[in-house]
Amino acid sequence: MIWALNSCKGTRTIAARCGAGAWRNSARLPAPRGYHASAARLDIAAAPSEKTGAMAEKYILNTYARPPIVLSHGKGSYVYDTGGKKYLDFTAGIAVTALGHSHPEVAAAVADQATKLVHCSNLYHNQWAPRLASEIVEATLAAYPQGTQGIYAKAADGTDSASLARVFFSNSGTEANEGALKFARKYGKHIAETGVLGKGTSEALRGDPNLKCNIVSFTGGFHGRSMGALSVTANPKYQKPFTPLIPGVQTAKYNSTEEIGAFVDERTCAVIVEPMQGEGGIHTAQVEFLRALRRRCDQVGALLIYDEIQCGLGRSGALWAHQLFPKDCSPDLLTMAKPLANGIPIGAILASSKVAALIKVGDHGTTFGGNPLACRVGTVVLGHITDTKFLEHVRAAGEVLEQELTVGLSQYLGNAVVELRGTGLLRGMQFSSDPAKVIDLARQRGLLLVGSAGNTVRLVPPLNTSIDDIKRGASILIDCVKQSVAEEGAK
Ligand SMILES: Cc1ncc(COP(=O)(O)O)c(C=O)c1O
Repeated sequence: MIWALNSCKGTRTIAARCGAGAWRNSARLPAPRGYHASAARLDIAAAPSEKTGAMAEKYILNTYARPPIVLSHGKGSYVYDTGGKKYLDFTAGIAVTALGHSHPEVAAAVADQATKLVHCSNLYHNQWAPRLASEIVEATLAAYPQGTQGIYAKAADGTDSASLARVFFSNSGTEANEGALKFARKYGKHIAETGVLGKGTSEALRGDPNLKCNIVSFTGGFHGRSMGALSVTANPKYQKPFTPLIPGVQTAKYNSTEEIGAFVDERTCAVIVEPMQGEGGIHTAQVEFLRALRRRCDQVGALLIYDEIQCGLGRSGALWAHQLFPKDCSPDLLTMAKPLANGIPIGAILASSKVAALIKVGDHGTTFGGNPLACRVGTVVLGHITDTKFLEHVRAAGEVLEQELTVGLSQYLGNAVVELRGTGLLRGMQFSSDPAKVIDLARQRGLLLVGSAGNTVRLVPPLNTSIDDIKRGASILIDCVKQSVAEEGAK
């Protein structure tokens, strides 16, 4: 692999002047006179090493195939490599940096909180976790002020705070799903133990809590790589090396309303589904599918979990992708992560009041989840995403992207480009064959793209990318598709 190496010229640190070996050794050098420890460390940490690629290959576990560039910084919708090359970032760190890179409010919140309190564990309250939780709950519930089912359910008088959905903070999307599955298991036991069964469920479950523990997930879904999350991610490539997985998981076909009755039964404690699949190739659920899932979950006393880790928090053009569906498609548990703190690791579960009522002290936990740094940044991000103008921009930008690509690639649509899919700024372009070459060409021309399943390229730029930059990205992509098709044809 040929690496884009950083030139030492003009850099100030021992590390950058002398390479990685010196970078390591510099930690052992005595401090020179007048040395300001904190400033020097900041400089060393920020200095790109010309050996980065080689060091990565030598020291980092080989779980990702990365291109030969090293990114050093970003601004807005652009990132820069250590050689100074500029890229328009249509990956946003895989649908994470919703506000773009180095957002001034995010940077200020991180800097200020870092001087106050980064972490104190969940042994104590901090000022930011309850605030972010309240903002998530209130912003979500605002969609249905009269209430509906699941997380939107209201107590009869509509005022009791015990009727509100509650938040658990984690550190990633995987962990959010893992927690949601655990909460569903507890709920299943409760239903089986108490006999409060939904209409149509069998008497056989009464008294045996372990019978109501099955989970249904769907083809094309992606929910994470830990054992529970992996078990509901029905992709042999991810699952096969790590079997056996957790028992009791069944995989039904995404968008197959007919299959629901056979898969979701009285032994099911939860159904987990993405209203819009990201990794799976940008596929959107059909209204009838989600409605039937909701209805069937109510019939058999199972919980409906929506994984909105990729499609949620503004990416679809609505706060939550499921809010683009009718209100009788609402979930009992909602998981979120990626953009919530614009890249500072965070995840969260929003649990309906009926689930929250069952969760007791000690049932679940985390050391880092809910830390004040991530939660404070979360309030900054949520403040933007819940602004109607921001969401209007996401929808408008998504339409411009679709329009530009549809026009620019009209001659290829239906052949080299099978389909353009998606909503808001969660877009997919499916190719008739592996799009690796298009992704490669785009990077060379200064546009970063990420693939997803089924020969699909994902287009997930920062949500505040300007219309001009959306057009610019579309134009580069169109040129790359043309070049790739021409080169394939010439072979
Ligand atoms: C829908 C969905 N769920 C879960 C995850 C896992 O999240 P994380 O990588 O933060 O653990 C992802 C990550 O891509 C995702 O897209």
